[in-house]
Amino acid sequence: MEERKRPIVILGPMESESAYLIEKLSDPTEHPIGAYRFVSGLVDDHPVIVGRTYIGMVNAATATALAIEHFHPSLILIQGTSGAHHPDLHQGDIVLGENLVHLGRYFTSHRDSGEGSDHTRWTFPGTEIVSGGQLKEIAVLHSHPDVIDLAASIPYPHGKVIRGTIGAADIWNRELDMIDLLREKLGSDCEEMEGFAVAQVCAQLGVSCADIRVISNSERYAGEDFDESYGRYCQKFCLEVVRKLIATDLHR
Ligand code: 5AD
Repeated sequence: MEERKRPIVILGPMESESAYLIEKLSDPTEHPIGAYRFVSGLVDDHPVIVGRTYIGMVNAATATALAIEHFHPSLILIQGTSGAHHPDLHQGDIVLGENLVHLGRYFTSHRDSGEGSDHTRWTFPGTEIVSGGQLKEIAVLHSHPDVIDLAASIPYPHGKVIRGTIGAADIWNRELDMIDLLREKLGSDCEEMEGFAVAQVCAQLGVSCADIRVISNSERYAGEDFDESYGRYCQKFCLEVVRKLIATDLHR
């Protein structure tokens, strides 16, 4: 009897970050779980599930845990739009999240009333994660290296593709001094609101993950305001990544 194949789960927070992938599934079946929409189907005869997480860390973590419990995937790929931190990144460029960091985990230092805020005095500790049966403070999580290597070989016509560090938090940073501080402290090349949460749940439940993002906005350049339509380029790119993963059997 043929071994039942474990599916690949692809997550996208917004409608504009998941609809294209859902459209590309053959034999689609809806699996609503609470507020979350999962659609199972086939890509090149391999089971794939696309999930819409909605925006933010809690939504992403919840959708990831539900997907792992319900579908037992071999890999969870979170993808979507992001804002550039690196000065060389522009709308349309893709960041392969070799490293994933938490931008919202910081401790401020005491200041008296009326002294204002000084983010240069903030510290950025790691996140408590149980990994290999041990509680650790981990500052950087990683996408599965084979997925990143394979993604780096996929042709992409809408910009450059770099390996880098993706930061996440329920925060939208528009102050360039803050963006530069995050780059200095955590090495972030871009920011979004889900990646680290997905990676944290995957680390704690022993499932491989990857985060791949398109730049949809940069505070550094006039005319590069948020444009959700870039989400489609990311989905197209990720579909090719998944096709190649399936063809090479790497995700098993
Ligand atoms: N900061 C934070 N999140 C962003 N997103 C796109 N650009 C940014 C940015 N500059 C993504 C988040 C979230 C949605 C609002 O868009 O991941 O899902």
